[in-house]
Amino acid sequence: MANYFIVGASSGIGQAIALQLANGGHSVYGTYNTTEIQSNHPNIIYTKLNVLDDNISYEFLPETLHGIVYCPGSINLRPFERIKPTDFINDYQLQVVGAIKVIQSLLPKLKKSENPSILLFSTVAVQSGLPYHSQVSASKGAIEGLTKALAAEYAPKVRVNCIAPSLTDTPLAASLLSSDQKREINAQRHPLKRIGTAQDIASMATFLLSENASWITGQILHVDGGMSTLKVN
Ligand SMILES: NC(=O)c1ccc[n+]([C@@H]2O[C@H](COP(=O)([O-])OP(=O)(O)OC[C@H]3O[C@@H](n4cnc5c(N)ncnc54)[C@H](OP(=O)(O)O)[C@@H]3O)[C@@H](O)[C@H]2O)c1
Repeated sequence: MANYFIVGASSGIGQAIALQLANGGHSVYGTYNTTEIQSNHPNIIYTKLNVLDDNISYEFLPETLHGIVYCPGSINLRPFERIKPTDFINDYQLQVVGAIKVIQSLLPKLKKSENPSILLFSTVAVQSGLPYHSQVSASKGAIEGLTKALAAEYAPKVRVNCIAPSLTDTPLAASLLSSDQKREINAQRHPLKRIGTAQDIASMATFLLSENASWITGQILHVDGGMSTLKVN
């Protein structure tokens, strides 16, 4: 059984990944930031961690890690002209620099295991190009580039992949799904006629982290109800 570190396991997709891995018998070291959470599973241990802090301690982690999942993200949708340069910088700090800091600190633990991997998150908007998505797309585009560069640099030892979801029902997306009408309109925008669930994304995540994905690296997996590739209306 493997040891997995999930940054941002207190909510949404990260929480669903933690549960799926723990139910599979793996040990999960999850973090929360603002949403203090008690573990409801014997295989999950939660620790508080803010990726924006300068000196992050990883003393709570074991010597060997088989996977790192980085979940912190944001969805700030606004017209480009109303977004300040500092908003772009803050997004980049959370989504990109935060991931870089965690990965740099924990590569030695990853390299000690068999078939280790890193999993990052992008968004459907990078592939598709959507209005009002410039802030999130700028950071997530960087995440996709980082995924491919690190996959090349650390092959064959460490696999690095990225999931690019479309709209998924989590606390992060709550304002976009705050009425039945919004939910229905968003569902109909997808060829598969529904929005995603955290479990949809977690299923791909647990596969990518597993031995079954040991020949997959440098990929951006589009788990998006067909949104980025199909035009059916
Ligand atoms: N939901 C969607 O529609 C959607 C679509 C496309 C892409 N994504 C991407 O998928 C990923 C997961 O999204 P989600 O919807 O599951 O988000 P979420 O429900 O907001 O969960 C985010 C997690 O990250 C943690 N976090 C946030 N800021 C942090 C910080 N400064 N330091 C440490 N941890 C921090 C949160 O902790 P606390 O709650 O404890 O503060 C939480 O556990 C994100 O990268 C997001 O951009 C989501």
